[in-house]
Amino acid sequence: MQGVKGEDKIILDKAESKALKLRSRALLFSLIHPVRSRLVLSLFVVILSQMLRVAGPALIALGIDWALPAAIRQETTPLFLVVGGYLFAALATASLISWFLRFAAKINQDVLLDLRQRIFKQTQRLSIEFHEKYTSGRVIARQTSDLDAIKELLASGGNEMIAGVFYMLFTASALFLLDPSSFGILAISWIPLFFLTKWFQVNSRLKFRQSRVASASLIVNFVETMTGIRAVKAFRKEKANQSLYEILSEEYRDVTVKVIQLFGYFGPGLLLIGNMTVATILLFGGTRVLQGELGIGVLTAAIIYARRFFDPMENLAMFYNSYQSANSSLEKISGVLQEKPTVLEPKASTKLGEIEGRITFNNVSFNYSNEVKVLKDLKLEILPGQTVALVGTTGAGKSTIAKLVARFYDPTAGEVLLDEINLQNISSTDLRKTVVMVTQEAYLFSGSVAENIALGKPSATPEEIEAAAKAVGAHDFIMELPDGYSTDVNKRGGRVSSGQRQLISFARAFIADPAVLILDEATSSLDVPSERLVQQGLKTLLNSRTAIIIAHRLSTVAIADRVLVLEHGQVIEDDTPEKLISGTGKFSKMHKAWRDSLV
Ligand SMILES: Nc1ncnc2c1ncn2[C@@H]1O[C@H](COP(=O)(O)OP(=O)(O)O)[C@@H](O)[C@H]1O
Ligand SMILES: [Mg+2]
Repeated sequence: MQGVKGEDKIILDKAESKALKLRSRALLFSLIHPVRSRLVLSLFVVILSQMLRVAGPALIALGIDWALPAAIRQETTPLFLVVGGYLFAALATASLISWFLRFAAKINQDVLLDLRQRIFKQTQRLSIEFHEKYTSGRVIARQTSDLDAIKELLASGGNEMIAGVFYMLFTASALFLLDPSSFGILAISWIPLFFLTKWFQVNSRLKFRQSRVASASLIVNFVETMTGIRAVKAFRKEKANQSLYEILSEEYRDVTVKVIQLFGYFGPGLLLIGNMTVATILLFGGTRVLQGELGIGVLTAAIIYARRFFDPMENLAMFYNSYQSANSSLEKISGVLQEKPTVLEPKASTKLGEIEGRITFNNVSFNYSNEVKVLKDLKLEILPGQTVALVGTTGAGKSTIAKLVARFYDPTAGEVLLDEINLQNISSTDLRKTVVMVTQEAYLFSGSVAENIALGKPSATPEEIEAAAKAVGAHDFIMELPDGYSTDVNKRGGRVSSGQRQLISFARAFIADPAVLILDEATSSLDVPSERLVQQGLKTLLNSRTAIIIAHRLSTVAIADRVLVLEHGQVIEDDTPEKLISGTGKFSKMHKAWRDSLV
């Protein structure tokens, strides 16, 4: 089983990783495109707010060096101007940032909504082939933890990063304009800052990746234990699971500790560089003040700027990490989004008239994506109204034939016809009405029993629903449920046995009234007494339509008009059950063995 290219792999070659980046960038662009004008507006507001925020210390310098001396000379206007300006800048900054945060929240969540809905739509649109190779656990991870990583980034980090970058840029520029020599000292501090940041970046990328891998294997282990809890209990695997889980969770703790410890170096390192810079500016600025070359106000402002310059750094570093995980999530999501359905809608579909229900396999060859030939040159004709049983060893290709008739897959070569029409030329809507497949799974959706039956025919009346249930022998047990047909199948008391679930899915198929019905091991959860009960319902269900049944129990096979014995994708026997039983072939042996087992 292979997944989507590039997905979940840690090491990629150059071309692969480039393709991955392009794919994920294209997705990012398509997400941003619809909100681009709002994005430009919010960027403009951020820039303005950060400019005003940086104006504060310059006004303080003005206040100390110009307004204060004037006030001492009894001229108070400059002081009022400066204080007024300071207050105005503070108010304007606060309201602009507030507006930006609220505005950005809306943009971010719109982008997230778009992505969320795209993933859902895509995973529903993709063919069975995708879902048979891409485990549901991974689909769930795309829709949950990956979306969460992106949400995390959008919710906090993103806004802070944009604001922080501009803040640092403007702070440095203001210092440069105010006092170039102090700016020079700040610029020298960028050398250790560069090395510290580089060190952090390299290490945190590594450690964060380890942490994501550790957390993923922890989750996978947990999900597998829980979904297989019956097997775990049956085979007493608790102890082994427990120790594996302990190892994995300890690994996760250790790598998380290392991640957090990185900040234990980075934060204080920043603080140290910042304070050294301030001290140096104070030292050199102080001597210039003593020599009368520099105003005290300017020095004060220079110190504030130099100190504040480092403020956003720690947040930026945090942002870098959420950026890393959001980025890898986006890459995985883009992998799912670029998958194409393998079963395509016909360009010009053939209108279906009255359907007889003849199924023809014309030299059909088939293999799954692993290239192992399952069917080779299969020729088969099933007549309208015929009930055909497929029997054969596990892996013979019975379900594969069923999936080809339902067009979950297309043949690799040859064609499958319904009444002389290639299935590939029938619209999926028509096909779903015509061909219905019931499997062992018999899935019930949350809702009432009646709703679950009506899935086969959304317009069904309560009478029709009851008639369908009666026809397949499901009525009696439904009436014993707490609320009868209105019982919620997910509520206590509404929980039904797997055999009862299969009866409900029979009623669902009966009410859909398809021309072709496929039952793939659909009776295997029934015990022998219930199966007897269903026999009659099954006959009603199979009556007046073409049917393909795959069943292990030969009593079910006996109701067929015709039995096909399959081996390695080839039909090795093909006749009525009676003839095959009286013969000397494989089916006759199977039948004898089965009869012997009954006595
Ligand atoms: N989704 C799949 N991907 C790859 N191989 C598959 C898949 N499903 C079935 N196969 C293989 O195809 C062969 C036929 O399988 P199947 O038709 O399910 O057999 P049966 O229903 O007769 O037990 C088996 O060898 C099986 O391993
Ligand atoms: Mg099967």
